[in-house]
Amino acid sequence: MLAEAARALAAAGVPSARAEAELLAAYVLQVPRGRLALADGFTDEQLDRYQALVARRCQREPLQHLIGSAAFRHLELAVGPGVFVPRPETELLAGWGVEQARVGGRAEPLVVDLCSGSGAIALAVAQEVPAARVVAVERSPAALSWLRRNAAARAAAGDRPIEVVEADATDPHLLDELTGRVDVLLCNPPYVPQAVAVPPEVAGHDPAEAVFGGADGLAVIRPVVDRAATLLRPRGVLGVEHDDTHGTVVPGLLAADGRYVAIAEHHDLAGRPRFATGSRRADRPRPDTAGTWQTGSS
Ligand SMILES: C[S@@+](CC[C@H](N)C(=O)[O-])C[C@H]1O[C@@H](n2cnc3c(N)ncnc32)[C@H](O)[C@@H]1O
Repeated sequence: MLAEAARALAAAGVPSARAEAELLAAYVLQVPRGRLALADGFTDEQLDRYQALVARRCQREPLQHLIGSAAFRHLELAVGPGVFVPRPETELLAGWGVEQARVGGRAEPLVVDLCSGSGAIALAVAQEVPAARVVAVERSPAALSWLRRNAAARAAAGDRPIEVVEADATDPHLLDELTGRVDVLLCNPPYVPQAVAVPPEVAGHDPAEAVFGGADGLAVIRPVVDRAATLLRPRGVLGVEHDDTHGTVVPGLLAADGRYVAIAEHHDLAGRPRFATGSRRADRPRPDTAGTWQTGSS
């Protein structure tokens, strides 16, 4: 049965067809994938369900939509239509954010996750840095309902509740009340350039506003880099994921802004440029020129 399903999935162009055939079988049988060999065979009803799921996957419906959840670091997040499925590569940005939130032993580090989607990054930080105050910002009403559902589930599981804010990450007044106070600002924005072709799972099921970042892929990143410099405290840090063609462009945006130092580019496990980071310059505004910044120290 598994071999037959794997063949059908491979013929439909599904990558890792055998693994997905097993994951779907494990889901139907309600056993961990590693214990499939020990499981009883399908009942007739289970077989019908399995074949229906395989058929939907052959239509390139995302595996995570079919099983209703996505793994992200130590979390299982509810996902489905209307929300971006969190990707394994974003675990690296979240992990970097977790490390940064722990640096310096602050009693209550303030962490902001812009473009939060399912809440993957925000909820990972809340789980792994229990002392952190975490604020998650999302604009899409559909994504917000998944975010609130995941946030409620994690709070019920005992994690510190996160704060969910419905807002546009490109708003020049975004989170005004946190100006100069944020320790760690993380963002996995929509960043694929508009003309780039994406796989059927993405084109048909991830919301376009979660994927495409305008003609050059930087439509959200540019204002986020600007706004983050205002929200971060001196020496607070920004981490922003980007398209793998933007490994020099996004660090260049941070450098051009003039308010970041220690700018670095980070690669994913496949060696592709994946996210850029920078630290807020430690200058203070001159008392007589509100809104302008001294330069020269960091
Ligand atoms: C690539 S997804 C990332 C979701 C999540 N952070 C993750 O890593 O899985 C981008 C998210 O940004 C949201 N988004 C797009 N434009 C936005 C904006 N201007 N303000 C706030 N959220 C936005 C989308 O709705 C989507 O949920």
